[in-house]
Amino acid sequence: MCYNGVGDNMRLRNVRGANEKIEDSSYMILDYLEYRGHFQSLFANNHPIHIEIGMGKGSFIIEKARRNPDINFIGIEKYDSVIVRALDKLGKESIPNLRFIRMDAEHIDDVFWKEIDTIYLNFSDPWPKNRHENRRLSSIHFLQKYDSLFAERKRIVMKTDNRHLFEFSLVSMVEYGYSIVDVCLDIYAEDLKDNVPTEYETKFHNLGFPIYMVEVIKNK
Ligand SMILES: C[S@@+](CC[C@H](N)C(=O)[O-])C[C@H]1O[C@@H](n2cnc3c(N)ncnc32)[C@H](O)[C@@H]1O
Repeated sequence: MCYNGVGDNMRLRNVRGANEKIEDSSYMILDYLEYRGHFQSLFANNHPIHIEIGMGKGSFIIEKARRNPDINFIGIEKYDSVIVRALDKLGKESIPNLRFIRMDAEHIDDVFWKEIDTIYLNFSDPWPKNRHENRRLSSIHFLQKYDSLFAERKRIVMKTDNRHLFEFSLVSMVEYGYSIVDVCLDIYAEDLKDNVPTEYETKFHNLGFPIYMVEVIKNK
């Protein structure tokens, strides 16, 4: 299974009015570099902050925010054309503990500083060629960047249908010092409690693919 941003994103790239919608939406953090180290001030509370990197059209993070008002959620996505779909889903609904940032995660360590509790990596692009390994969001290249984001304990929760990416991520996370707290080779076979599906998850589960999940933690 491969989705290197070629399918959906190509089709979505030219969504009319995307820029205007993004600039006008109160969900968007446009001046995100101003908040480094104090993102909690945006939410006017001291609740933990969870981020999803590569949120796509936002089904997962929107539903997580609805179900968990005591957690602040920030979705990160690099394409306007995809973020705008999340804004369309929200319509006029107001979810005070939810924000979005349009950015490439390559620069994520310039954006957050010791303030994140959990990172979700859902159906990240697998980048199957070895020479693109550093582009995988669970590569050591990215794990190093994530270190300075976390407030205290470092926690990553990942889901994917891609066996190769899953195995690569397990090795990379464990090599980098993370411990596995929970791992599941087919979340639908095991009826994972409180699972919130993502768009890709629904699509690939409906096609009969097993959905893998791992939760890891690192204390240093
Ligand atoms: C395969 S989609 C999965 C979307 C969603 N998480 C889901 O499970 O339905 C991957 C998403 O990650 C975004 N993405 C990939 N690399 C990224 C990066 N370096 N920074 C921000 N977003 C990225 C892509 O634009 C795409 O929307």
